[in-house]
Amino acid sequence: MFESLQSKAQEIIRAEYGIQNVNISWERPQQASFGDIATPVAMQLAKELKKNPKEIASTLAEKLQKDSSVEKAEVAGPGYVNVWLKPQALIDELKHTREACTAKVIKRGAPVVIDYSAPNIAKPLGIHHILSTVIGQVLGNLYRHSGTAVVGVNHVGDWGTQFGKLAVAYELWGMGKPMEKCTVEDLLALYVKFHEEAEKDASLEERGQVAFKRLEEGDQELRAFWEKVVAITLKELGVLYARLHVTFDHTHGESFYEEKMEPVIAEGKKKKVFLPGEKGALVVQYPEESGLPPAIVLKADGATIYMTRDLATVRYRLDTWKPQAVLYVVDVAQALYFRQLFAAVEQLGWNPPKLEHVQFGRMRFADKNMSTRKGNILRLEEVLDEAVKRAGELIESRGESIQSDDTVALAEMMGVGAVVYGILSQNRQSDLVFDWDRMLSFEGNSAPYLQYTHARARSVLRKADASDVALPAAVATLTEGERSLVGTLLRFPEVLEEALSGHLPHVLTHYLYQLCQAFNAFYNSEPILQAEKSQKSLRLALTSLTAAVLKCGAELLTLRVPDRM
Ligand code: ARG
Repeated sequence: MFESLQSKAQEIIRAEYGIQNVNISWERPQQASFGDIATPVAMQLAKELKKNPKEIASTLAEKLQKDSSVEKAEVAGPGYVNVWLKPQALIDELKHTREACTAKVIKRGAPVVIDYSAPNIAKPLGIHHILSTVIGQVLGNLYRHSGTAVVGVNHVGDWGTQFGKLAVAYELWGMGKPMEKCTVEDLLALYVKFHEEAEKDASLEERGQVAFKRLEEGDQELRAFWEKVVAITLKELGVLYARLHVTFDHTHGESFYEEKMEPVIAEGKKKKVFLPGEKGALVVQYPEESGLPPAIVLKADGATIYMTRDLATVRYRLDTWKPQAVLYVVDVAQALYFRQLFAAVEQLGWNPPKLEHVQFGRMRFADKNMSTRKGNILRLEEVLDEAVKRAGELIESRGESIQSDDTVALAEMMGVGAVVYGILSQNRQSDLVFDWDRMLSFEGNSAPYLQYTHARARSVLRKADASDVALPAAVATLTEGERSLVGTLLRFPEVLEEALSGHLPHVLTHYLYQLCQAFNAFYNSEPILQAEKSQKSLRLALTSLTAAVLKCGAELLTLRVPDRM
């Protein structure tokens, strides 16, 4: 940013202190009264040169003052240099913000593999599934936007003893309902029934295990049953993913690795990474100092487990995509598991690229218990429907003040957006709170507020008969409201980088919220359409850029924004 300022400062430091390539960092002060941009470089140099930081800062300020892009430079605090830029320099700099609204061309080379959503088959998506689903999708969107290729994979849980249990339950209590007619809800009911009955009759567990073993061995009837179960679930999932604007490049469920585990097990044995454990199981032992408990890779009866499939999955991904990183967007509950998995990969000497568990906290509800075993899960679909219904009521209650030709579509956009934004706006590293009022607020840090602000900006442009307005080339002054909006707009490129590098979507939601506030303050204080000609064109350009940033940011977050509302 501000390349001319940067090179000017370097030039001064070179000339004054003989230091060649000093790394100058610039920050944007929190308050407008500290200028547009500030650097702590004088304090950094003071140590090196054993000089007074304030003296260095004042030399720097004095010389920077002469730069054509600088309006004023001052020393502040223990040795900061605060710089106010000329209006035109600020406006010119906005070209970076504009560029950041367009996705970069995808570079060739190593992609980032993102493993997200990954629900278990034969169960409806619960509200908690939205976490991995949307966080993973947003990370993918951010990477692609920055020009990095992404391979998005849905590692669905479509393999394991639960399918044996389900087959037994269907045989016993399915009451002859043809599989074609079954819904995921029916499958869940069977699964719950199985667990209830198994508490009374211990032999059921065993029957389930046997059935799974037969499935693994290729029993045709069981295989056909299992295929239908998977198809029914994927179809229902597809509807939800479409509503959420979530897509995958591949749905490679755990079953996909069925044939790929054998060579991995053989390799692990040969390399003495997999060792005989209790009762003939095969385990990975970790060095004492890692503090990791041993992990089973093969059960005593020879059955493979989650870990076995994940090891084969790592191998497959490395061989197939040669990725620069593999991100696992999974609940914090699996933190230990992923440490064991990654450590096993290390021991196998696969020389993996970066493997990262992008974890997120639990979802907390004031009033609902979210156990899947008992069958009383809060379904994601229900939550979305409820949110859309509430959004519809909100639209209705606002009456004339809401302008939309399609209030049904608007309610869907707002309701689904509200739930998604409600999740993404919280730091994933802590627990996530589900709160209806906050999500649907028109004023707070919410999707409706963002959507409303976008529609407001578009409405101004519509009235001016403009759609995309270029930035003016001659701007001599900026009002306070304009300057503050410009300052916020300037931050967009860095915010994208920060959200991406930390894998933190809330950094972006937070910024968009600030941008909405800055735009609304600007809108309320500065006449746009009534302003005189040159001011009007600047204000329209800022309005147009705000709309572009809001739309781009919202879409990266999987949201949609209306032109009217
Ligand atoms: N299906 C798993 C679950 O519901 C999540 C899978 C995550 N991905 C993976 N490669 N382990 O817990």
